[in-house]
Amino acid sequence: MDSCLRRNDKVETKQNYFNMKPVIEILEDRISAVMSEVAGQEKCSAIIKQASDPKFGDYQVNGVMALAKQIKTNPRKLAEQVVEKLDISDICEFPEIAGPGFINLRLKPEFIARGLLEINKDTENFAVEKTTGPKNIVVDFSGPNIAKQMHVGHLRSTIIGDCICRMLKFLGHNVIPQNHIGDWGLQMGMVIYALEKEAKWTTEDKFPNIENIPDASDLSLEEFERLYKKVTKLVETDPEISKEVKAYTVALHSGDKWTKIIWDRARKISLEQCYKMYKRLKVNLNNNHTHGESSYKDDLSKVVDDLKEKGFAIESDDAICVFPEGFKNKEGDRLPFIIQKSDGAYLYATTDLAAIRYRVNKLKANMILYVTDARQKLHFEMLFAVAELAGWAKKNMLHHVMFGSVLGENGQPLKTRSGENVKLKELLDEAVERAKAVVEQKNPELSQNEKDKIAQAVGIGAVKYADYSNNRTSDYVFSFDKMLAMEGNTAPYMQYAYARIKSIERKAQIKDVDIKTELKDIENLNLSDPSEIELAKHLVRYSEAIQSAVSDFKPNYLTSYLYELAQKFSTFYTSCPVLKAEPEQRPTRLLLCDLTARTIKHGLTELLGIEVVEQM
Ligand code: ARG
Repeated sequence: MDSCLRRNDKVETKQNYFNMKPVIEILEDRISAVMSEVAGQEKCSAIIKQASDPKFGDYQVNGVMALAKQIKTNPRKLAEQVVEKLDISDICEFPEIAGPGFINLRLKPEFIARGLLEINKDTENFAVEKTTGPKNIVVDFSGPNIAKQMHVGHLRSTIIGDCICRMLKFLGHNVIPQNHIGDWGLQMGMVIYALEKEAKWTTEDKFPNIENIPDASDLSLEEFERLYKKVTKLVETDPEISKEVKAYTVALHSGDKWTKIIWDRARKISLEQCYKMYKRLKVNLNNNHTHGESSYKDDLSKVVDDLKEKGFAIESDDAICVFPEGFKNKEGDRLPFIIQKSDGAYLYATTDLAAIRYRVNKLKANMILYVTDARQKLHFEMLFAVAELAGWAKKNMLHHVMFGSVLGENGQPLKTRSGENVKLKELLDEAVERAKAVVEQKNPELSQNEKDKIAQAVGIGAVKYADYSNNRTSDYVFSFDKMLAMEGNTAPYMQYAYARIKSIERKAQIKDVDIKTELKDIENLNLSDPSEIELAKHLVRYSEAIQSAVSDFKPNYLTSYLYELAQKFSTFYTSCPVLKAEPEQRPTRLLLCDLTARTIKHGLTELLGIEVVEQM
């Protein structure tokens, strides 16, 4: 799955350096071409990585050794031949050969300066190139279930999915978010029972006036969830209730008007809460993106019939199953992908197959990403296999972007003391409450109103940033103390770094330095101090960071980049005076400040959906 986007998106070289691919890709193209020429081989790959240690420069070319092995020649000699033929003097200092045949590259300050100037002019896009092959990409994320409050388990899917959408959109893809909510399965009988019998929406009369049905807002989701849970317990112990619940499911699934109305209300109560949560989390999901399981109800029988007709689905142990190749249990038996139970009921799997057909045929998706936790790995592997087998999706079109669990301090999945899932709302409330203390400590003079606003940004930002900064595929331990720390790779640290630069700019204004005019037509930069060069280099690598975050669907590449940026800024600001700098130095330094602030702001607000604050 990894890098599927970058590889497919190769574009021709344009004249303008930064309004195009990241430097690393330009170098990769040029060096690969020379390697081919020198070795007389058709396709060579330079395999360039960022240097692990700045001592060795900025990039390391690793591909020469493999090529030497392939054509049976001395790797160091081959490296020498490549370097001799190579012309990258517009970008890099003269390359150095190291070890058995690595080539080390160091960017030229002039090149970096040109890059900065281009970014400065391209205020909205930071000279990040848009893809030349835009795709229709469906991103399936969040997907909460009806009658339940969103809990910590939904946090990762919701915010990682949103970040992926934001990044893809920024690169020019056509992104179609889909919120595949759980609003149809067998549990709907319990949902309706909870409202009719437990919330007493229906009295003796089974068909009262439709106008008399309570409005959705009459019942809180908290109360609804409590009743729903009560029913799930009742069903286990009381066969009579279990029967009634089943009857409700059947009624709903066969189009009964009354049950449908109750079900509609249930959806409304649940979704209203979700939309509030998305707003609070700055996640771009709304009613237009809600396309839940219920929307596929009429396609389920067709899915099963089609698979039967094609000969892929067969009856086994009373159920209708597909046995895709490559999936076996410990005993070596093929695993079934069940699409219809003996009582006729369809499953999660059936709905997901119908959703693929809709997304490919109607939404014209050429890629579908599923952002869910790793526990659904097998489900998606089998789903993809079946969809490909049936010819409903092409190879490499479907990707499971999975993630690990959020753990408590005890290393177990985060739960409340009574063993329940932690509600997302409560988690965010506490984060904001704790952030208030941080703000109070940092800046007691601010007005209460300002403090509250900053605490919102810091609290919510901290929860999101902590999640993003952990490698998506690993579990991580949730810690308020860590995520709210002012030091380290945290939201408050990043927000503070931004606010600090803003305060420098405010000071400049007081001193009558008009930054906007000073930077607007700036044409020549004066990068001399090593800390200036380091910072500038990092700034021009923003597009590289975004590209790699997108190709692996990993927001933590972006947070790492931003954190490093703030650190490099700190080093620069310690060693280089800005407002008191000499006239020939000041514009460059002001630009470094301004671009750092702009990049942090863009990364946080536009790509991660985390607010910045002007002072902190
Ligand atoms: N509702 C599901 C859950 O809570 C997530 C849905 C994921 N998307 C999908 N197409 N299966 O686990």
